[in-house]
Amino acid sequence: MPTDLGLLEDAYQLRTYKKLPLQVVRGEGVWVYTSDGQRYLDLYGGHAVVSTGHCHPRVVDAIQRQAAQMIFYSNIVYSEVRGRAAAALARAAPPELRKIFFVNSGSEANENAIKLARKVTGKLRVISFEGGFHGRTIGSLSATGIKKYRDQYSPLVPGHEFVPFGDLEALRRCVALTGPEGSDTAAILLEPIQSMAGVRTAGADFFRGIRKLCDEIGAMLIYDEIQTGFGRTGTFFFAGRHEVMPDMVTLAKGMASGLPMGAVLVTDKIAEQVKFDDLGSTFGGGPLVSAALEATVQVIEEEGLLENVIRQSDYLKTALGGLVSVEEVRGEGFLLGIKFKSEAARYQQALLQAMILTGLSGDPRVLRLLPPLSLGRAEIDRFLDVLARVN
Ligand SMILES: Cc1ncc(COP(=O)(O)O)c(C=O)c1O
Repeated sequence: MPTDLGLLEDAYQLRTYKKLPLQVVRGEGVWVYTSDGQRYLDLYGGHAVVSTGHCHPRVVDAIQRQAAQMIFYSNIVYSEVRGRAAAALARAAPPELRKIFFVNSGSEANENAIKLARKVTGKLRVISFEGGFHGRTIGSLSATGIKKYRDQYSPLVPGHEFVPFGDLEALRRCVALTGPEGSDTAAILLEPIQSMAGVRTAGADFFRGIRKLCDEIGAMLIYDEIQTGFGRTGTFFFAGRHEVMPDMVTLAKGMASGLPMGAVLVTDKIAEQVKFDDLGSTFGGGPLVSAALEATVQVIEEEGLLENVIRQSDYLKTALGGLVSVEEVRGEGFLLGIKFKSEAARYQQALLQAMILTGLSGDPRVLRLLPPLSLGRAEIDRFLDVLARVN
């Protein structure tokens, strides 16, 4: 490892990130290469971002061609590539959610979804869930159910309530507190699989119950699919699972294979109520990120990445279930949480020694795998082999 590792970063950047002792210089598929010439298997996917793998040639080509043609112009003009990207995203989206507002990040997507919910319902309150993570901006943080992130920045945006994830009764009680027939609830916002909380999800009844409740009280159901979206759970979106369709879906992370992009998908009914100047974002849907989005959708479709996620995840989950160190395997597709019988950090360290990158979570015993959707059997076997030898 170079002795000057991170010297400049540490000199000039705020030290807000706990970093691995690596300097990555190049990526290819499921591999990253470090400045000291080592190759690491990336099961962390740059934090669930590198959907099509590092530097997929088609994505690189689309970005390079677009960069040479036009890097940026704002939404004040039409852009052919933005139109094509929107059409590609709409094609991948559930038919009910084909109107799009482009932004730059997950937090910004959630900010805008909350604004839209307040606007179209005329109500104030947003209910979300303990353990849910929705971002770091003041609005998205106000909906984040993790106290340690929220507390130091209070007072936050008023009107946010939290209930335990998976608890329909608590949700009903909370709604009741917002006035007769839940009259002040604008939205119920959730991560369908709570990633940061240790990859926790709930049963079909929970999702169906929330949908029913939202219909009864006229509130918007918002899925934060910033991690579950774009193929990570083996379908393009979680929306539609258990026959439940939300009114809005927020996206970011993998949608442009690593360029910063986010989006809110909404129903036609919501779209009809949005007028000129209601929302805005300078960089949202810029030409360069749009080219990456279009290519990302094409690669996922044409290379059968969704089928790959399902097939390889089934194999991985079954194999993990057979390891004595593993208490439980959580999640779906390539959003997996391995709950060990002891601290996960020890396993992360051992894997790092064996040149495999993984992630921790808010649950000290859960290790997260968020690999590129193209991860294959040989690499999975390599990972399993190392893991089986950690004791
Ligand atoms: C589920 C979820 N929502 C929102 C966000 C915030 O996204 P961003 O960091 O792009 O603002 C994240 C980021 O990790 C996330 O995992």
